[in-house]
Amino acid sequence: MSDHGSHHSHSTSPENQAPARTLDAHTERYARRTAGMTASEIRALFAVASRPEVVSLAGGMPNLAALPLESLSGEIARLIAEDGQAALQYGSAQGVGQLREQICEIMELEGISAHSDDVMVTVGSQMAMDLVTRIFVDPGDVVLAEGPTFVGALGSFTAYQADVVHVDMDDDGMQPEALRQTIDEVHRQGKRIKFLYTIPNFHNPAGVTLAVERRSEILEICASNGILVLEDNPYGLLGFDGQTYPSLRSQDPDNVVYLGSFSKTFASGLRVGWVLAPHAVRERLVLAAESATLCPPTLNQMIVSRYLSTHDWKGQIKVFREQYRERRDAMLGALEQHMPAGSDWTHPEGGFYVWFTAPEGIDTKEMLPRAVNQRVAYASGTGFYADGFGNRQMRLSFCYPTPERIREGVRRLANTVTDELDLVRTFGPTGKRPATGPQTPSPDTA
Ligand SMILES: Cc1ncc(COP(=O)(O)O)c(C=O)c1O
Repeated sequence: MSDHGSHHSHSTSPENQAPARTLDAHTERYARRTAGMTASEIRALFAVASRPEVVSLAGGMPNLAALPLESLSGEIARLIAEDGQAALQYGSAQGVGQLREQICEIMELEGISAHSDDVMVTVGSQMAMDLVTRIFVDPGDVVLAEGPTFVGALGSFTAYQADVVHVDMDDDGMQPEALRQTIDEVHRQGKRIKFLYTIPNFHNPAGVTLAVERRSEILEICASNGILVLEDNPYGLLGFDGQTYPSLRSQDPDNVVYLGSFSKTFASGLRVGWVLAPHAVRERLVLAAESATLCPPTLNQMIVSRYLSTHDWKGQIKVFREQYRERRDAMLGALEQHMPAGSDWTHPEGGFYVWFTAPEGIDTKEMLPRAVNQRVAYASGTGFYADGFGNRQMRLSFCYPTPERIREGVRRLANTVTDELDLVRTFGPTGKRPATGPQTPSPDTA
């Protein structure tokens, strides 16, 4: 936000009061689609959780400490010296050709055979989500998504006034039977389903992976109901044993739009991701992208391309995997050691996240200020649902803090949960008590 309303003048002249009045006037002019735009709970938390004494298990920042910064800076300097005229110029809306070809080689690791003509580079896969929603969703159309699902995806869907309907998951990912029932129910209500958004590998936030034997069934259900599949796969190469799974796109190229990203396997700040889509969809996406950004940043694309051709990027991903596996082990071990009975959590085999269910009666959003008092932060579960579900759940990220900090954070969190459980036993469930003490920061303060 700008500094509307925060002018420091003490004058009471009408001119100096204008900012507050124009703020109201602006608010009235906003398009209806902005009504669903609120800062995610996670963003609201960032300010508090980033205090150094707080162990943050809340964010999803990749750990970049292992990147070869020195050789990378040499390559970037050479890139500008040798090819600066191109690197600093506008490029095509679809993205740099050489990078699109390298992207096809990367996708082969998960069974995808694709032509670089069908790839479009985006400003992170977040932008691809926005564009796909923009070209498919009219207000009131239904988008299906796992419950829970990625907060950023919910942001895009609600920005286009989609009606998000969740599909249940278990330890093997989305349940095909639940998908069938959900589709029938939505159709009974006379609503139109535009696509199914799914994160098959190392799910954010659930930490689970879609079982291989469920994949073709889910694709068949979608195809037979005329529902497009939007497969989001930023973590697919971060399996802790180096394992990969056949992507949905590889099994049904005509009905899947696939999203990839360099954010978790290289550098999130470069904002380079991509979308692979059936030809007609790709054409429409390029038009939508042009109207949003003209073209993705040429320099960043060329940096990624050069990194891929000059560095051992597969070896680098292995380093990341080993780092994250050590952190996952630290988290699971500490949860096992400290959490009270009645708690439950997922056991991720890759990615960044554990999905934790607190003992009955605990409301994780209500508990958050007390956790922060104990110097630990997490992302409460309700932010990952469009329908208010998830108040017994939280997402715990093991990607960023060191293993020691993770163990300490989980110990503090377990103390908070245990204290909360005592309160629940004495006074009843937290959600039903009048709120006292420090409140979660409202979205407006973040
Ligand atoms: C499931 C999922 N999709 C997409 C994104 C966004 O990635 P990008 O940085 O490529 O926009 C994230 C980032 O956390 C994610 O977890």
